[in-house]
Amino acid sequence: MYDILDISLAPSGRDKIDWVRDNMPLLRSYEEEFSKTRPFEGIRLALSIHLEAKTAYLCKVLLAGGAEMFVTGSNPLSTQDDVAAALVHQGMHVFAVHGASPEEYEQDLRRVLEIGPDLIVDDGGDATLLLHLGCRAEKDPSAIAKPTCEEEKALFATIAARIKRRPGWFARAAAAVRGVSEETTTGVHRLYQLEAKGELLFPAVNVNDSVTKSKFDNIYGCRESLVDGIKRATDVMLAGKNAFVCGYGDVGKGCAESLRENHCRVRVSEVDPICALQACMAGFDVGTVEDALKWANLFVTTTGNVDIITAEHMAKMRDRTIVCNIGHFDDEIQVARLMSWPGVKRTNIKPQVDKFTFPDGHSIYLLAEGRLVNLGCATGHPGFVMSNSFTNQCLAQMKLWKERASAKPQVVRLPKELDEEVARLHLAACGAKLTKLTKRQADYIGVNVNGPFKPDYYRY
Ligand code: NAD
Ligand code: ADE
Repeated sequence: MYDILDISLAPSGRDKIDWVRDNMPLLRSYEEEFSKTRPFEGIRLALSIHLEAKTAYLCKVLLAGGAEMFVTGSNPLSTQDDVAAALVHQGMHVFAVHGASPEEYEQDLRRVLEIGPDLIVDDGGDATLLLHLGCRAEKDPSAIAKPTCEEEKALFATIAARIKRRPGWFARAAAAVRGVSEETTTGVHRLYQLEAKGELLFPAVNVNDSVTKSKFDNIYGCRESLVDGIKRATDVMLAGKNAFVCGYGDVGKGCAESLRENHCRVRVSEVDPICALQACMAGFDVGTVEDALKWANLFVTTTGNVDIITAEHMAKMRDRTIVCNIGHFDDEIQVARLMSWPGVKRTNIKPQVDKFTFPDGHSIYLLAEGRLVNLGCATGHPGFVMSNSFTNQCLAQMKLWKERASAKPQVVRLPKELDEEVARLHLAACGAKLTKLTKRQADYIGVNVNGPFKPDYYRY
């Protein structure tokens, strides 16, 4: 089963996957191991992920482990049609097309869940949301009565149609799921919210907060892929620009550093005094978006929050300001309000680059329609950092499956031993040589000679 743009694109997708595989050392060794041990033999695995070459390689590794694979894209703009075709060629069920409308997006998501997956890999939480909201709506239809945006309209309509056709389906599907592993910060926030309300329906592994994920992918991945996205989209010279980064969490730290390395003058905004002070110590100015409107040539949002750049902000920006988002979803920047701003004219410069001209004559350039610029205008993080993230995904899936009989519906992280192991096994590719603790040293600092080397409360 599949619904993709064009199966004949498979050879190009396959070449891209082969290319990234060489930069994903640990994931590669998992492919070999899984093809022998087959830890996922016979289980149905649904994935809602950025469907590009590195995630495609993760899919191949899980397939090698014996899973039947059902794949959709977690963001219509990051889906690569040739990569989707290559996965179909490998024998996976793929439902994803680049540029899908909100309705198509929700339909594709529903289709990968329709098969009744045993396990889910989610990036951003949309698969988890569809199942949880569907279950709520089966009991209380008012849960899907009042959509607030186009995406919600499509989501609610998908749920309503499913309930009408197959009453009780969401409850049955959610009950069959043995667990979800969640890739990113925003998806993890949603899981903890469900857990706190006592509404989480199945066990969940927080992959994001493995140190080898959030302190690598979110920081060092964005440090490379932000600028990659901006440059591919705009061809601008970053040196000499005034860049403003909203949010100085993990993603913000990587973004601010990379813009500085590209010789921008960089300011950041924060609501959290600790992160704001960290920014000061790293030598960045900290200020507000409002104060930077007549200063910045480039705004980047990284907060995972809403309404960070408002339509009013964009109406007051300098001419030719570039505006983009590398956080989550498309509501850090008020895109819908920008589009309906009185008298604003939209000119599409090329795919994922739109110029909005305001009635006073000034323009702003919006990248990737306000969605993730590194995945919409480029191809996400480099393979090496994704090898860390996706090795954690493999470990999380194995944990969920192994512990399926006893696991409770709660959010857990992977043990530190595994986190250290993921890092250890990537060191060789960097030419690094670890120092070994002596027994006396290990005893002195109160750890085991072979780790873990830090207590759980250590923050890196
Ligand atoms: P984080 O919590 O470490 O950082 C977010 C920061 O934004 C926090 O420090 C918070 O205080 C700050 N913030 C919140 N509201 C703000 C506001 N109104 N103004 C200024 N700052 C504000 O989270 P993170 O790991 O950096 O992730 C951020 C977002 O990026 C999430 O949505 C995550 O899912 C996404 N993400 C994207 C990618 C990618 O490749 N595009 C990779 C990893 C994470
Ligand atoms: N490539 C695939 N998934 C990604 C993600 N979550 N972040 C960045 N790049 C990616």
